[in-house]
Amino acid sequence: MSLHRCCYEKKKIIYLSAALLFLAFLTWRLVRPMNIFVVTDNFARPMAVTRPPAGLQSMRAADCGKCHRAIYQEWAASMHAHAWTDPYYQTDMRFEDSQQICLNCHIPLQNQQPDLVTGFRDKERFKPILRKNPDFDPVLQQEGITCVVCHLRDGVINSPRVSGLAPHKSRVNKAMIQGVGVCGKCHVVSGRRWDTFFKIPPCGTVAEITTGNPGKAIKCIACHMPRTIRPLVEGGEPKPVRRHLWRGGHYPVQVRQAVKFKLKITKQTGGTGEAKLTLTNIGTDHFLPTGTPDRYLSVAFKLRGVDGQLKSKIFKLRRTIMWRPFIIDLWDTRLIRNQPRSYTFTWPEITQGRQQTLKITVRYHLLAEARRKRINYRNKTPISYIIYQHTEVLEGKQKLKIGLEEQR
Ligand code: HEC
Ligand code: HEC
Ligand code: HEC
Ligand code: HEC
Ligand code: HEC
Repeated sequence: MSLHRCCYEKKKIIYLSAALLFLAFLTWRLVRPMNIFVVTDNFARPMAVTRPPAGLQSMRAADCGKCHRAIYQEWAASMHAHAWTDPYYQTDMRFEDSQQICLNCHIPLQNQQPDLVTGFRDKERFKPILRKNPDFDPVLQQEGITCVVCHLRDGVINSPRVSGLAPHKSRVNKAMIQGVGVCGKCHVVSGRRWDTFFKIPPCGTVAEITTGNPGKAIKCIACHMPRTIRPLVEGGEPKPVRRHLWRGGHYPVQVRQAVKFKLKITKQTGGTGEAKLTLTNIGTDHFLPTGTPDRYLSVAFKLRGVDGQLKSKIFKLRRTIMWRPFIIDLWDTRLIRNQPRSYTFTWPEITQGRQQTLKITVRYHLLAEARRKRINYRNKTPISYIIYQHTEVLEGKQKLKIGLEEQR
């Protein structure tokens, strides 16, 4: 009997301490500073590209642009040129305590950064040991993802083809354009860690690209650097080249062209009915939207009568992530290539002779209003725009009046 009791007590203590330990662990997970991604070798350090190619005095884009004017102008209008100056990025970076790790993709060259990374204080490589960089170039810093980030290796300009006409040393590098090519370094990085079930890397790039396209070769440049025929330098021979556009979420036309919309409105006698909008991603191999988890689409149905709004319904196409205590992708309702998604809205009976209007709006959001407020980002350009809109006038129709006469 006493033996039994002793074991029972012991067991109780063991269970209780296990529960307490687990609770302490969860509490720690809830309050600890959180590293939401894994630092991989691709971007753990700034790029040691520090001197111009043989034959040139400078590595600044503005100087490449003196000869390659058309490419320079396209690049200058792209988000790559604004990867550092972008006010949303600047605000977000300050909100995230200006961690050095952000710089390795947004201003990846060693001399774009005011400090050199000489080592790390932690195994996860989030705490670099820094020393002042005597060669820091504040002008190059402003250029963000500048030309030489993709083109310069070991003091030589890399290119998928070389004409022999350039004043700078060039070499052929086919790897630049194979698969994810030069884009992979920042856009297609992944890392595994026991507590991250997060399938998307920093700034949520296109790790999902193979989901909708099993077995298909991924070609970022085919869509983001469209072909054209023109000379590479003023007065040169025109040749087939690729434009340096990289259009994405900041370009409404690029987004609109990638989605097919089909609207079906069914009106019943008596005035009730249903609107069904079907969206299909026909233009991107990755999900739509892609990129940072900030981006999402909204599909809004709004029914208005003479006295104001009667009924509304909003669907959001986005990924939902649980951050604490563990990072888990909960669900993802973004558009996968060639997989149609339908959203429906029904309206109640309309009084005979009355009119109601149904407005259907699809918007692309660069970030949510709640996040804009939280990080105090004072946007000068809109944070969302319309990619589809339709207005339908609904009328209360006469009901079939069978038997009504007799009742009176
Ligand atoms: C003084 C003029 C000049 C400057 C400055 C210049 N380039 Fe060039 N570049 C050329 C010419 C000329 C060609 C060959 C054009 C042709 O084949 O028609 C060329 C070709 C290229 C090619 C294709 C590979 C090759 O050699 O055929 C790349 C890539 C390139 N340049 C990148 C750059 C980058 C990046 C910079 C800045 C770091 C730069 N260039 C600066 C004149 C210049
Ligand atoms: C984000 C990466 C990236 C950046 C930044 C970039 N390029 Fe390129 N560039 C490429 C890729 C990839 C190609 C090859 C496209 C192809 O297959 O034709 C290319 C092609 C070129 C070519 C033509 C090579 C040829 O013979 O077809 C020139 C010239 C060139 N780039 C110059 C520049 C200049 C000048 C800048 C800056 C103003 C710049 N690039 C910025 C990735 C980049
Ligand atoms: C050194 C890192 C780096 C490389 C290499 C790179 N990118 Fe980017 N890219 C960025 C960053 C950072 C941004 C976001 C800039 C911002 O919006 O502040 C970006 C933005 C973009 C955008 C979004 C534009 C928009 O409208 O918001 C597209 C599209 C894109 N990159 C495509 C490419 C392609 C294609 C390649 C390969 C040819 C490539 N990138 C190579 C870092 C990189
Ligand atoms: C079949 C064409 C296609 C291919 C292939 C493709 N993209 Fe895109 N991409 C698009 C279109 C269209 C958009 C605009 C709609 C959207 O945001 O999804 C876009 C948007 C983007 C954006 C903008 C996200 C944002 O937040 O604004 C990035 C970054 C991007 N693509 C990177 C890549 C990279 C990297 C690859 C290669 C791994 C790639 N894309 C391959 C068509 C393509
Ligand atoms: C592995 C490379 C990488 C690292 C590290 C990285 N970013 Fe990015 N960032 C990107 C790429 C690529 C994009 C473009 C994706 C897109 O357009 O949606 C981007 C886009 C962004 C954007 C969206 C800008 C816009 O166009 O609306 C913000 C904000 C941002 N990054 C902030 C940060 C901050 C803050 C950090 C550090 C905590 C950071 N990034 C670290 C690669 C990186």
